[in-house]
Amino acid sequence: MVNIAVLGHGVVGSGVVEVIDTNYGHIAKNLGQAINIKRILDLREFDVPYSYKFTKDFDDILNDDEISIVVEVMGGINPAYDFAKKALSRKKSVVTSNKELVAAKGAELLKIAKENNVNFYFEASVGGGIPIIMPMHSCLAANVIDEVAGILNGTTNYILTKMIRENMSFEDALKLAQHLGYAERNPSADVDGHDACRKICILASLAYGKHIYPENVYTQGITDISLEDVEYADNCGCVVKLIGRTKKLSNESGDILCMVSPAFISNQSQLGVIDDVFNGIMVRGNATGDVVFYGKGAGKLPTASAVVGDVIAAAKRFKTTESLTWEDDGKNHVVDYKTTSVPFYVRCKGENAESIICEIFDDIEFLSRKNKPDNEQAFITAELLESDFDSKIEKLSQKGIEVINYIRVLNY
Ligand code: HSE
Repeated sequence: MVNIAVLGHGVVGSGVVEVIDTNYGHIAKNLGQAINIKRILDLREFDVPYSYKFTKDFDDILNDDEISIVVEVMGGINPAYDFAKKALSRKKSVVTSNKELVAAKGAELLKIAKENNVNFYFEASVGGGIPIIMPMHSCLAANVIDEVAGILNGTTNYILTKMIRENMSFEDALKLAQHLGYAERNPSADVDGHDACRKICILASLAYGKHIYPENVYTQGITDISLEDVEYADNCGCVVKLIGRTKKLSNESGDILCMVSPAFISNQSQLGVIDDVFNGIMVRGNATGDVVFYGKGAGKLPTASAVVGDVIAAAKRFKTTESLTWEDDGKNHVVDYKTTSVPFYVRCKGENAESIICEIFDDIEFLSRKNKPDNEQAFITAELLESDFDSKIEKLSQKGIEVINYIRVLNY
């Protein structure tokens, strides 16, 4: 019997209890022994048949030598960071779904786990129920990873899908996503792109072996995307998706591109067809070519599935350390995104907009939509250095053209 403790009894924590309870016999057979949830930490009161397991005091778990694995599903940095450090230092493996914690403190917690010959696992921190961390670490270990790009946030993908398919407003779609339990406690983490940023940082750290910090990663969310932009995208065979991406730029320096932003991508592409709460992650290995992972990126049971999978892996590797790791070498390996190039979609308005646009931009494709106001123009540029694009947008403004929105155009 493996005794575990679960920190947090919210959406994911209660899902962990449910998965272990529902699949008890199956898991015991797979693992060779049963998993027993001995304690659950939560400050709230719950009227559930297992309420006798609850404690409000983390020391009840820390000082219990029978508990060998601590599952942290509270979210946030504090007190999760303190609890994870203490548990690892007491030679308990830690399993977490907490992307904020892994993105901020992953290198340090992996180091403490190694020093104590236990494991720090975080499959559920990226892609909800989709296996991505272990497959990248193990199954794709033979590859140099050239690039990773993905739809990494279920809430925003759900909102964008509702806008694209049902012409629903951003606000109504967000309310629905919250109701379905997809959104973070503070939905700004979803809609402003921070959740996707944390996830691409984790994948970049894993792919390139150096800790990539969210504060070094340019991040833009979806709050400025309008139904008009969605319509223009549709009229050129595209959809708007929130894309997290990272790419190796130099073998010698270890420099990488890493950023999060909305993007026009082909509606027929491997990521363009991913809708609703589903996530999709494309990993481009130098031997495999593109491998795409697809599944439910948020929600109680999919996320709990990944957590319990890690519990089983940790129990199988009792008192050994999985080599999964990366280090903080004190350097920022993320290049300034202004030095990289992409095509852009631009929507703007003003008198004589068409001729002014043609003066400033070469090689553009104008777009149309139903009921387009006469003074509105939308177009797609050729590939431009981000800093050159900024100068051209500035020139548009100087000539009296109001730039309403611009969105990168990506080829995934
Ligand atoms: N709020 C997150 C999402 C939950 O919508 O993807 C899963 O990380």
